[in-house]
Amino acid sequence: MRKKIIVGNWKMNKTIAEALDFVKAVDQKVHDQAEFGIATSFVALKSVKDAAKNLIVAAQNVHFKDSGAYTGEVSAPMLKELGLTHVIIGHSERRQMFNCSDEDVNLQAKKLLENDIVPIICVGETLEQFEESKTKEVIDTQVSAALNGIDAKDVEKVVIAYEPIWAIGTGKSASAQIAQDSCKAVRDVVAKLFGQEVADKLRVQYGGSVNTANIEEYMSQADIDGALIGGASLKADSFTEIIEKVK
Ligand code: PGA
Repeated sequence: MRKKIIVGNWKMNKTIAEALDFVKAVDQKVHDQAEFGIATSFVALKSVKDAAKNLIVAAQNVHFKDSGAYTGEVSAPMLKELGLTHVIIGHSERRQMFNCSDEDVNLQAKKLLENDIVPIICVGETLEQFEESKTKEVIDTQVSAALNGIDAKDVEKVVIAYEPIWAIGTGKSASAQIAQDSCKAVRDVVAKLFGQEVADKLRVQYGGSVNTANIEEYMSQADIDGALIGGASLKADSFTEIIEKVK
C-alpha cells in the first residue's frame, strides 16, 4: 500500500524564528501512519532541518546545474549537504511567474534523483484549460515532459502533485471526484510510459485549497496518496489537525 505524504508548501512565508516556533509546536504531533513535511524558504532550511526530528523538510525549488554563474540560484548538491530528502519543482507559481518550463522541470527532476532527493513534481491546468475540458491533455503533456528520460526505477520514487491552478489559494477546491479523476489521469500517464507496476508505486498528491474540513474526503479517494497544502499549512493548529486526520 502507498503511504500517504502530506507536505505544507509555505511559499514566501515565515522568518526563521516563525518557522522554528511552528516546528516546536508541530514536530512531536507527527505519527508514522503517513509522512508529513514542510517546504520552507531557502534561508530557513538549515535551522528547520536541525530542529525537525519527525517532519520532512523540503525546499521549494532547485537549479538543474551543480554550480556556476547563476546568480540567486541554489543547487541540488547544496540541498543534499543539508540532508534534504524532498524538493518541490514545477509549482505553478514558478511556471507562471518565473518562466519555469516543462524542460526545466525535467532537468530539475533528473538532477534531484541523481542526488537521491525525491522531486515533488507539480502539474495542473489553468481555469481556461479546465473550462475547455483540457485537464487530461495538460496532465499528459506535463507529466510526460517531466519524466522524459528518467529510469522506471527512479520514477517509482517520484511524487507528483496534481494542483489545478484555479484551486490554488482561491478557497475553491476541486471536488473530490475531480481531484480523484485527475490524480488517476496522472497515474494512467505513468502507466502508459513506464508500466502499471511503476504507476502503482508512484504517489500522487492533490493540492489546491486543501484544509482541515476537506482533507479526509480527499484522502479517502483511491488514487490520492497525499496533499500539497499552502494556506492551511501555515498555522500550527490547522496543520496539526490535518496530521491527526490523516491516519
Ligand atoms: P493552497 O496552495 O493550499 O493555499 O491552495 C496549494 C499550493 O500552492 O501548493
